[in-house]
Amino acid sequence: MSVEKVGVLGCGLMGSGIAEVCARAGLPTVVREVEQGLLDQGMARIEKSLGKAVDKGKLAAEDRDATLGKLQGTTSIDDLADCDLVIEAIVENLEEKCRTFAALDEAVKETALFASNTSSLTITEIAMATTRTSRFLGLHFFNPVPVMKLVEVVRTLMTTDQAFADARAFVERIGKQPVACQDNSGFIVNRLLVPYLLDAIRAHEQGVGSVEDIDRSMTLGCGYPMGPFTLLDFVGLDTTYYIANIMFEEYREKRFAPPPLLKQMVLAGRLGRKSGRGFYDYSAG
Ligand code: 3HC
Repeated sequence: MSVEKVGVLGCGLMGSGIAEVCARAGLPTVVREVEQGLLDQGMARIEKSLGKAVDKGKLAAEDRDATLGKLQGTTSIDDLADCDLVIEAIVENLEEKCRTFAALDEAVKETALFASNTSSLTITEIAMATTRTSRFLGLHFFNPVPVMKLVEVVRTLMTTDQAFADARAFVERIGKQPVACQDNSGFIVNRLLVPYLLDAIRAHEQGVGSVEDIDRSMTLGCGYPMGPFTLLDFVGLDTTYYIANIMFEEYREKRFAPPPLLKQMVLAGRLGRKSGRGFYDYSAG
């Protein structure tokens, strides 16, 4: 089955990025938020991102208008009824995701694929909230979605070969590159990235180097686009703390255990760029 219409649940940072790339690929895309205010913010983020692309000469003005024409915002799950694929990018909370997917299962046509953009929960535990476990997968995008080329396509024990092939084809259609992952918490990227980020904090705690010097080491020494502390601030310290805790619960391995400094910073409200301060200070903009 070819995906011709997409539904996106959640219009936050990830959801709006996913909706943008789907619409830019020419697919009619319905994006749903729980309330109008959040929907307006998310749609404004998409318009701003498209506007930047136009200003930079990367997108023609008429293509921006065509992209916006493909997008429909809604607060009603029923508007996703005839989508071929629904991608969920709501809050990283198992109960909330299960509740939402159970409602979606009732509202959306039986043949549609369901996917979660979860970064740390397992797809299996979310899929079990629906009756379509054979057509349920993970589609894990990366921040910033319009820029990062990768999408992890995650299959469970129940996902059929056909559903997996359809999901891969969709990823290629929107101009991204798929990798196949088994349903282990963190999949490929976060399984490797999270211990690295936590280790950078531990190295700093142990006095190995300053935040700036550790960042400089990894950008200049390894060619990473961002050092670990810049990336931690970018991803959000609360998000990293949450993901690390889930992965620690899952694997019971020390490398996933969040270090005390990370917990302290989250409790102190230093969440990274979004709060104006993390390992760096962004208060000056
Ligand atoms: N939307 C659209 N385009 C964007 C963008 C955004 N939010 N942010 C940056 N860009 C574009 C810029 O317009 C620019 O395009 P151009 O080269 O055509 O002019 C290009 O990206 C480079 O941006 P900048 O020159 O402003 O800055 P950088 O060169 O520092 O690039 C970056 C920014 C792409 C974010 C780069 O630093 C990077 O790749 N960082 C690492 C990001 C990363 O690791 N993401 C994964 C996080 S982990 C994750 O998402 C998993 C989750 O589960 C936790």
